[in-house]
Amino acid sequence: MLRYLTAGESHGKAIVAILEGMPAGLHLELDRINKELKRRQQGFGRGKRMQIERDRGQIISGLKNNITLGSPIALLIQNKDYSIEKLKKVISPRPGHADLAGFLKYGFSDIRDVLERASARSTVATVGIGAICKIFLGEFGIKIFSKVLSIGGRHSKQGMREKITEAVKTKDTVGGIFEVVVKRVPVGLGTYAQPDRRLDSRLAGGIMSIPGIKGVEIGLGFDYAEKFGSEVHDAIYYTRGKGYFRKTNNAGGIEGGISNGEDIILHACMKPISTLLNPLDSVNIITRRPAKATVERSDICVVDAAGVVAESACAFVLADAFLEKFAGDSLKDIKQAYRNYLRRII
Ligand SMILES: Cc1cc2nc3c(=O)[nH]c(=O)nc-3n(C[C@H](O)[C@H](O)[C@H](O)COP(=O)(O)O)c2cc1C
Repeated sequence: MLRYLTAGESHGKAIVAILEGMPAGLHLELDRINKELKRRQQGFGRGKRMQIERDRGQIISGLKNNITLGSPIALLIQNKDYSIEKLKKVISPRPGHADLAGFLKYGFSDIRDVLERASARSTVATVGIGAICKIFLGEFGIKIFSKVLSIGGRHSKQGMREKITEAVKTKDTVGGIFEVVVKRVPVGLGTYAQPDRRLDSRLAGGIMSIPGIKGVEIGLGFDYAEKFGSEVHDAIYYTRGKGYFRKTNNAGGIEGGISNGEDIILHACMKPISTLLNPLDSVNIITRRPAKATVERSDICVVDAAGVVAESACAFVLADAFLEKFAGDSLKDIKQAYRNYLRRII
């Protein structure tokens, strides 16, 4: 239904994204996209690059007078730090990055040719596309939020800040866990009918596609493994006018690969940033002798920003699943199909 492609190097001219399948008739304000791009740039522990960039989108197709035409939407975000041709050669791969595997795979002589595209700078495109999907979902009251739950094992706001400050002082990096919550999702997005159409696998895949994410949980997640079934499954109730509902939501809003009408709740773990100011052991790819890993300008902690990117990844998956269920070429048709469905199930 919905698909997108991104292009662009971290220090190239721009990052570009094309979104295909967004219906006609959706009101898109660039300000709302820019607001999301700004959120991605924030968070305690960000590096110097985020002080240089002022990410702003330009929509270069698919829109007339701020209304979608149903044709592909092309979004362009310029890199202020356009310097790809001037940057120094990278010859010692950083553990934890695509550097070594990418350089061997593509046969490059400069590891920069890997890291320019492997860099999470590309997540600016995910967020731009996600912002458009959020605007679409908003037409149906669906809202997506994220928050940081822990940093380096610390759960209080103060503790998290201390952990990042410690990492800055010791020239280290730190990861953490964030939560994504989606509210007012209707019953019936996704299906058990094929493994690749399950909503849980699609959401987990979307979040896992973000660089540095190493685990995703849905609802109770790994805690399910420690409980009896009677303790965890969410009993079903019905009230006239309100329809079916649950008093608990351990399933995180998805059963059998289908949204069940409760909030969708996801947790994800972001590993510590791999670029270290005190670099780990590595190998010089020219001499093949021991060397310290390359040090690049880098963030120290990005769990907050990763949560924003994950919201966007989820927005894309949910908009896609929504369009699958309530297919239509114009927003008007989709709203009609949605109303008819709600009338049937309540
Ligand atoms: C928003 C965001 C910003 C990031 N910034 C950096 C960074 O400045 N330096 C760095 O080494 N890694 C950064 N990362 C993480 C790397 O991109 C990621 O660890 C690396 O590409 C390896 O990917 P993998 O861990 O998924 O294998 C960032 C990730 C995200 C989501």
